[in-house]
Amino acid sequence: MSSLPTKRSLKLLFVSTSVAGCFAMLFLMYFEPSTSWLLVPVNSTKPSDRVRNICSYKTNENLTTLLIWSWPFNLNYKLNVCSAKYNINGCFLTADRNLYNISDGVFIHHKLISNLSYLPPNQRPPFQKWIWMNFESPSHTSKVPGIENLFNLTFNYRRDADIRISYGSIQALDGEQDFVPPRKDKLVCWIVSNWREYHFRVAYYNELRKHIKLHMYGRHFGGRISGENYTTIMTSCKFYLSFENSIHKDYITEKFFKPLSVGTVPVVLGPPRQDYERLIQGDAFIHVDDFASPKELADYLLLLDKNEEMYLKFFDWRRYFEVKKNAPWDLRTCIICNHLRRYKEYKTLNLHKWFWDK
Ligand SMILES: *[C@@H]1O[C@H](CO)[C@@H](O)[C@H](O)[C@H]1NC(C)=O
Ligand SMILES: *[C@@H]1O[C@H](CO)[C@@H](O)[C@H](O)[C@H]1NC(C)=O
Ligand SMILES: *[C@@H]1O[C@H](CO)[C@@H](O)[C@H](O)[C@H]1NC(C)=O
Ligand SMILES: *[C@@H]1O[C@H](CO)[C@@H](O)[C@H](O)[C@H]1NC(C)=O
Ligand SMILES: *[C@@H]1O[C@H](CO)[C@@H](O)[C@H](O)[C@H]1NC(C)=O
Ligand SMILES: *[C@@H]1O[C@H](CO)[C@@H](O)[C@H](O)[C@H]1NC(C)=O
Repeated sequence: MSSLPTKRSLKLLFVSTSVAGCFAMLFLMYFEPSTSWLLVPVNSTKPSDRVRNICSYKTNENLTTLLIWSWPFNLNYKLNVCSAKYNINGCFLTADRNLYNISDGVFIHHKLISNLSYLPPNQRPPFQKWIWMNFESPSHTSKVPGIENLFNLTFNYRRDADIRISYGSIQALDGEQDFVPPRKDKLVCWIVSNWREYHFRVAYYNELRKHIKLHMYGRHFGGRISGENYTTIMTSCKFYLSFENSIHKDYITEKFFKPLSVGTVPVVLGPPRQDYERLIQGDAFIHVDDFASPKELADYLLLLDKNEEMYLKFFDWRRYFEVKKNAPWDLRTCIICNHLRRYKEYKTLNLHKWFWDK
């Protein structure tokens, strides 16, 4: 027999201590102790939440526990949703770091890892998997030293991620529908906040603007655009420059899905056309690679401006399809847990090689 603690014995130990702990904690809470010594060293959730978490932890061995080490983008959402809201059963989500030793998975947002001290202790139970979450492109993700051989699963926009969530998707309608694009009073627009001279898209823009008028918005062009103004501006233009900040495999963001959803034709700069055509039919967008130069692209856009029939062809897809927003964070978290439940195999990965190396 191995001397390593099995998951079953760890869970049994946990369950028996936590049942005792529940009583103790409830007792202490009843008397409202003045110090919160019970909660050291972890500052996770309010004491009442912790009692609820621990006490609702069922003795069912089949329950898969996912520990949220970092709330993605500091969002804070309800965790008792998988079964109730999404019909994903057998998942127990928690943000209580005291449950680390019995967690089947630990969910970590890359953005918050400034160094190794942010991560859980590396003496992890043998059944536990660490899930690496990141939605930025490799060019905009810091390559933290020492983390390349720590993770087991990737949660990412890439097609070859273990758990993939893209920035949006196109889905078939139940039937057919007529679609008329909203009224337009501008030809080409771009709302851009992250303006860097070294971005390839800026070089392309500098050439393109010599040949066609571009309506520019965003921090670099007179002020941040947010909320409904973002949608209103995008909707009022025939074309929108869906220029990604960097060009990487499968890196196709909301800059593409948003104009599609409001009835504006995206002009894309990003991965090759084939990558986009995996998401939507090829005549729904314009790719800069289809043109030998920015001038040729400008000429084509000017031609479409004069030819309504040609322009409307870009909306043929809307007859049969619609844009679906991607899953909200609570659902995504349930999806990760469900993956852990279904795929039990041993798994390691070299993160730097997978994500950064070409
Ligand atoms: C502990 O949590 C409280 C409330 O969420 C927060 O205001 C405080 O900054 C946290 N302290 C530490 C050390 O993280
Ligand atoms: C655990 O779940 C699996 C499938 O998810 C099921 O076949 C099995 O009967 C369950 N075991 C117990 C003890 O509930
Ligand atoms: C988890 O287990 C390790 C080793 O068994 C122990 O050192 C550590 O204190 C435990 N952590 C928690 C939060 O219970
Ligand atoms: C590691 O990051 C933390 C913040 O998460 C910071 O306080 C600490 O100084 C960093 N340590 C090193 C060695 O850089
Ligand atoms: C939208 O734009 C108007 C005028 O351009 C401005 O007054 C308003 O504050 C903007 N709204 C948001 C949410 O930015
Ligand atoms: C997860 O990855 C770590 C680091 O490579 C490895 O030591 C561990 O055995 C893996 N665990 C599972 C359950 O795959």
